[in-house]
Amino acid sequence: MTQAEFVVVANRLPVDRVPGGGDDDWRRSPGGLVTALEPVMRRADGAWVGWVGQADHHVAPFDFDGTHLVPVALSAEEVELYYEGMSNDTFWPLYHDVISAPQYHREWWDAYVRVNRRFAEAAADAAADGATVWVQDYQLQLVPRLLRELRPDLTIGYFHHIPFPAYGLYSQLPWRKQVIEGLLGADVIGFQRVADAGNFARAVRRVLHYTTKGSDIHIPEEDGSTRIAVAKAFPISIDSEAYVEMARREDIQARAAEIREGLGNPRTILLGVDRLDYTKGIRHRLKAFGELLAGGEVDVADVTLVQVASPSRERVGAYMQLRDEIELTVARIAGDYDTLDHTAVRYLHHSYPREEMVALFLAADVMLVTALRDGMNLVAKEYVATRTDNRGVLVLSEFAGAADELSNAVLVNPHDIDGLKEAIVRAIGMPPAEQSRRMRSLRRKVLDNDVGQWSKKFLDALAQARKAKSEEDAA
Ligand code: G6P
Repeated sequence: MTQAEFVVVANRLPVDRVPGGGDDDWRRSPGGLVTALEPVMRRADGAWVGWVGQADHHVAPFDFDGTHLVPVALSAEEVELYYEGMSNDTFWPLYHDVISAPQYHREWWDAYVRVNRRFAEAAADAAADGATVWVQDYQLQLVPRLLRELRPDLTIGYFHHIPFPAYGLYSQLPWRKQVIEGLLGADVIGFQRVADAGNFARAVRRVLHYTTKGSDIHIPEEDGSTRIAVAKAFPISIDSEAYVEMARREDIQARAAEIREGLGNPRTILLGVDRLDYTKGIRHRLKAFGELLAGGEVDVADVTLVQVASPSRERVGAYMQLRDEIELTVARIAGDYDTLDHTAVRYLHHSYPREEMVALFLAADVMLVTALRDGMNLVAKEYVATRTDNRGVLVLSEFAGAADELSNAVLVNPHDIDGLKEAIVRAIGMPPAEQSRRMRSLRRKVLDNDVGQWSKKFLDALAQARKAKSEEDAA
């Protein structure tokens, strides 16, 4: 196999199996990361190491759309311990401020180490001499160090897509030292928010007693020298132009009108779009909306809430419980306030193609992003990008990473139900001139910092690290 100059390592490959298709029928996954890296992968003749998303599936490496794909196989037991357990029932809740209680199980950790090693070995095999490797997200926090041990010639980047918590919470982790050491194997460690990078630097100081200076982390090496790793914020974004183009398509605009029609042409459509996850604040949103209906501030004849909750991690207990709670709440609201002509909440437990999502964004007057904690929240950016007429209101949680850039949204603390209710009422009644003033500023942010800028900034930082390293080697 030829080795690649640029390798991405992520829990998932950038492709999904075509439902009902043959064994080698793949299509590109819709995610933002995949879109962002596609041009880079093409230019660099890159390779992508990742899991195919199904247990016990052994697939040989193959080429897809200009990228060399290297599947990593996971057994059913590894999916249970490494993916559902350690990744999504330990790290996920711990890093999202323990909204749900993290479980600490030693056998989950052992599987996590084992699987991280498998990813690191696959990346080491795929990378050419002196190549650049970019590791993605919390499922693979040990890969940077494991990879550096296997291949000291590589330049290694890591990007953390979710929050990094305050030390008071992080310190719960029985393996807090190993995880920090794992991440510090990278030359550049990227975070969504400045606060995440700060939390990480503090954890490094507290756990390993290393010195940090600005974004530089000084790592003492065995030979007495000091290696510098950079830990800083690179807020991720979307392919903004693609959303603008879709929003301008006549067929998509017609679909938006059809959606409004289908809902009985209410005066105001509120929209929530989330993976069905306890970090997203869907219950808080429903509670606020239910109280507005109960108090008469909102009338079912005028306002409808559309809630898309796409199925996610359905075998993890906390997700099953959340689904039950949300569906009970939705049914109660519908039972109490629906009429034969009007729906209070239209709840959709599905995921939809991008075009349909854009039609929904165009149909919605108010977008509700009420996450209790969120690394970035790309849905907020997608909504903004599609509002080419500068109309519409974004209600945005201050606990979503997006709030750092999108400070002209109506910012809310979703725990404060009264505050959330006021924000919703304000959004419903916001005069067009104010909508437009805010939306213009939000759109400028999203159009200026798109996902291409994000990957460029990260890869530039990595190139700088590589340059520093080769100068040092030459000295
Ligand atoms: C978040 C994580 C990603 C993850 C995605 C979907 O955005 O940061 O790493 O891929 O959720 O979750 P899943 O468990 O289905 O991969």
